[in-house]
Formats: sequence, C-alpha cells, structure tokens
Amino acid sequence: MPRAASRHPFPPLFCGAALLAAPIGHGAPAGADVFSAHCAVCHGLKAEGIPGSFPPLGGQIKTFSALPAGRDYLVMAVSAGLIGGLTVAGASYQGAMPPQNMLSEAQVAAVLNYLASGLGKDKSGTRAFDAAEVTAVRARHAGITGPAALALRPALPD
Ligand code: HEC
Repeated sequence: MPRAASRHPFPPLFCGAALLAAPIGHGAPAGADVFSAHCAVCHGLKAEGIPGSFPPLGGQIKTFSALPAGRDYLVMAVSAGLIGGLTVAGASYQGAMPPQNMLSEAQVAAVLNYLASGLGKDKSGTRAFDAAEVTAVRARHAGITGPAALALRPALPD
C-alpha cells in the first residue's frame, strides 16, 4: 500500500522573509533612529514631552546648541543623565533622566543634531555636533552624574 504523499505544512515561500530582515545601513547613525530607539519612550515620538513628567525637547535644544556651555550641557545630559528640577516653557519637571551611556559618541552627536534642527526640519543656523566634540566634552566632564550635569544647564530667556 503506497504511503500518503507527505504534505509540507510550511511552503518554502516563508524562507525569504529572513532576508528582508537583514540589517540596514552602515556608516553614520541616523539621529531619528537613535531618538526613536532611546528617547521617544519618555520624550514622545515627536519629542513633544508628557506634561508634568517628561519635558519636550523643542526650541530650547536649538538655543542651548548655540551656546558653548549649552553644548556641554546637552552632551552631558545624554551621557550622565539629569537629576533635579528644570523648567521648560513655563512648566516645571522634577524628574530624573537615566544616563544614556550605551550610546556611542557618533550616536549622541546624531541625536542632538536631530533635536537641534527641529527633528531634522531646519538645519539653518545650527552648528552640527560631531563625534570628536562629544568625546572632548565627555572628557572635560568625566565622572559627573545627574545633579552636576543639570548644573551645567544655561539659564533660558523667559
Ligand atoms: C527614562 C526616561 C527618559 C529617557 C529614556 C530619556 N530621557 Fe531625557 N529626560 C527625562 C527626564 C525625566 C528629564 C527631565 C530631568 C529633570 O527634571 O531633571 C529629561 C531631560 C532631558 C533633557 C534636558 C531638557 C532641558 O530643557 O534642559 C535633554 C536634552 C534630554 N532629556 C535628552 C534626551 C535624549 C536625547 C534622550 C535619548 C538619547 C533622552 N533624553 C532619553 C527622561 C528621559
């Protein structure tokens, strides 16, 4: 008696899906990708913040990026985290941001450029961060933690 023809429950079609999942891109990290992977969970998908909990990362980032002290602050906020209170657009936040020290210098530069340019929309008037600057700032403030990073924050005009 012949054996019933064996039926393959999973057609070979599915095997191709693995190829589509191959990693994309090499070279410079994209600020938008760093933001969505590491920042959006707290600051919101469009950096709009969550009132009372997480500050928006909007125009103040461009303002800080135009000041030498502000550039140090931005790099160290991401690298060392922040502990203490701050005010953005009249709303105060009493939170703690954990250090994002899993990010490379190039990733920190990329995400700050993304934010300082209004999510990549307006690069005019912004001096780009690069990995060398991030390395130098981290060396200048080596070992600081959240409260000291917050103390670097320049006063914002009202
Ligand atoms: C776990 C939540 C969380 C994550 C993840 C997070 N942040 Fe924050 N972030 C905060 C909180 C909370 C504050 C406010 C800290 C305070 O009140 O001292 C803050 C503040 C900031 C500030 C200061 C804003 C200002 O006006 O001074 C910057 C800049 C910033 N975050 C950037 C980032 C970037 C870039 C990432 C991703 C690489 C990120 N944050 C990831 C919670 C987070």
